[in-house]
Amino acid sequence: MLHRILQAALLPAVLLASAGAARAQGSLNLYCSVQVEWCQAAANAFQRESGIRVSVSQKGSGEVLAQIRAEAQNPRGDLWFGGTGDPHLQAAEENLSAEYRSAALDQLHDWAQKQARDSRYRTVGIYAGALGFGFNPELLARRNIAPPACWKDLLDARFRNEIQMANPQSSGTAYVMIATIVQIMGEDPAFEYLKALHRNINAYPRSGTGPIKSVARGETGVSISFVHDAVTERLGGFPVSSALPCEGTGYEVGSMSIIRGARNLRNAQRFYDWALTPAAQALGAETKQFQTPSNRAAPVPPEAPQMSQIRLIDYDFARYGASAERRRLIERWDREVNALPR
Ligand code: F6P
Repeated sequence: MLHRILQAALLPAVLLASAGAARAQGSLNLYCSVQVEWCQAAANAFQRESGIRVSVSQKGSGEVLAQIRAEAQNPRGDLWFGGTGDPHLQAAEENLSAEYRSAALDQLHDWAQKQARDSRYRTVGIYAGALGFGFNPELLARRNIAPPACWKDLLDARFRNEIQMANPQSSGTAYVMIATIVQIMGEDPAFEYLKALHRNINAYPRSGTGPIKSVARGETGVSISFVHDAVTERLGGFPVSSALPCEGTGYEVGSMSIIRGARNLRNAQRFYDWALTPAAQALGAETKQFQTPSNRAAPVPPEAPQMSQIRLIDYDFARYGASAERRRLIERWDREVNALPR
């Protein structure tokens, strides 16, 4: 009996002591621009392995960039995980992220190492994904509309009010689309294209995955999306297909950066090293997100779009991730395209 009483009295102390040990590992504030299921799975797995408490805030790539810029004098985030590469490069150039060279760098594909070199080691590639079209084949069949196969098809009158793309101010996906069209057509013809496309757009949602989720729900026939995001919706049981533009297409090097002035710098570095391991990179597919992982030893899930089979343009990341260029193109889009009536 005495034994039990002692045990009961000791238990809270033991719990407190172990909670103290966990606390001693400290915490990590993660800004996360992949879909929330992956953010949460990464936070949980890292927390389990390291004892470091992780809090997650999920936002689009453009939104995180705006937030870390606004917080630059008093950073609240420690590490920015995921999101398209251009705004990570922009953050590097604006001195919003910290230099870090992980020992795992040489395990990564060239495209991921190049992202690190281009930023003078202030960001690194964690995955890649190609841009294309998502569509709802059931909805298009009901409306007797043939799916799009080429960028130029999206201007066709059959797609009047039928297309969604995200808003490039908040979404890195939408910026990749604009930069892709500029690289394929040249800037002025690209803006003529975007103005003509505007007539067929029914909404510019905030998040890059907003349009494909609308396709899945049958709210719009077509989206401009990363094709891996179409796979996620299809595996979720929705009638979603995808196509790759016949003219060729752009792609993202999804990236990760440590925020300059991070209060939990050592923990951010530990997360960074961990996130480059094959085991951590497999969490994407485990949460039904099928980007191509950057570690050469990470398995490429069979559901993932095969990047080597896709006609990719030679996307100029250094140019389109440059701060002045990205800002200028987004402002031009806002002024010349978004402001037009539909
Ligand atoms: O998480 C899905 C995804 O398409 C990523 O591949 C990409 O980096 C991210 O979303 C971009 O999100 P947003 O367009 O909202 O910045």
